[in-house]
Amino acid sequence: MILLDGKKISSEIKEELKEKVAALKNNGKGVPGLVTILVGDNPASQSYVSSKNKLCKEVGFNSKAENLDKNITEKELLDLIDKYNADDNYHGILVQLPLPKHIDENKVIQRISPDKDVDGFHPMSVGNLVIGNDTFFPCTPAGIQEILKRYNIETKGKHLVVVGRSNIVGKPIANLMLQKKENANAIVTVCHSASKDLSKYTKDADILVAAIGVPNFIKANMVKDGVVVIDVGINRVEDKTKTKGYRVVGDVDFDEVAPKASYITPVPGGIGLMTTAMLLSNTYKAYLNLNKKA
Ligand SMILES: NC(=O)c1ccc[n+]([C@@H]2O[C@H](COP(=O)([O-])OP(=O)(O)OC[C@H]3O[C@@H](n4cnc5c(N)ncnc54)[C@H](OP(=O)(O)O)[C@@H]3O)[C@@H](O)[C@H]2O)c1
Repeated sequence: MILLDGKKISSEIKEELKEKVAALKNNGKGVPGLVTILVGDNPASQSYVSSKNKLCKEVGFNSKAENLDKNITEKELLDLIDKYNADDNYHGILVQLPLPKHIDENKVIQRISPDKDVDGFHPMSVGNLVIGNDTFFPCTPAGIQEILKRYNIETKGKHLVVVGRSNIVGKPIANLMLQKKENANAIVTVCHSASKDLSKYTKDADILVAAIGVPNFIKANMVKDGVVVIDVGINRVEDKTKTKGYRVVGDVDFDEVAPKASYITPVPGGIGLMTTAMLLSNTYKAYLNLNKKA
């Protein structure tokens, strides 16, 4: 079994970006910039946003954190997005989800300029992904494809089974890996909560992507020998031996499944780190695209 080391690969990606940013010095066009917009005080969201800003600084990007009160109106949020859509110093705009109930998430996502949609959630980006155009791919699916690529794992003609059909993971990874392209071209099956006899599908997977949100859901008897396992899950489970009172586990029962797998991502240290690395890559891409247009 080989561990798919998200820490190592994401560090490589960051180093590559650092060098690219250093090479931009004195070009008169500044450096890539990302603005994160957080509404409210959800602790998990706060920690995601602060780590994204920290990473930006590490690679030499310009970054700004807009931390807004949970009672901000939808209009105030949309106006702020308009402001950053027009601000040449910021090439990427990330609105941390979920948003409070009184704000329409779809409206907010659609307000972000597709040129600055570094999360890849705008319908324009989603549509381009589905039809195989170059676009911003959502960061988690992009991170999955990138780690498979960097470990030279063949995807062409392989049966890739995704458990989960969310708009941020399940649907986009299925569409990405279905493309008749390098590092894709897989035979894709998508399962969800209405899938009867789930093991029938997961046991046939050459590559299994678990994006369910249920701790340790995938067990050894649900996979075949030699499977490549991508565990997207990030779940907090109570653990009184930890100072925080919890530990983070994936959707795959790692101890059970790892001995049967040819490759497997750990949690933590797997796809989570790849996701933030791809956010940086998308921001760099937005910078290049916008400068080309200017
Ligand atoms: N690593 C990262 O950077 C990253 C990024 C995003 C999310 N995550 C984590 O990944 C996990 C999934 O996130 P998400 O946003 O995709 O979750 P989500 O929106 O809650 O979607 C979960 C999916 O799993 C399916 N599902 C639930 N129970 C099932 C069951 N018993 N059998 C088969 N399918 C089942 C659901 O089916 P239905 O559609 O039928 O309800 C749904 O499609 C979470 O742990 C999340 O924290 C990690």
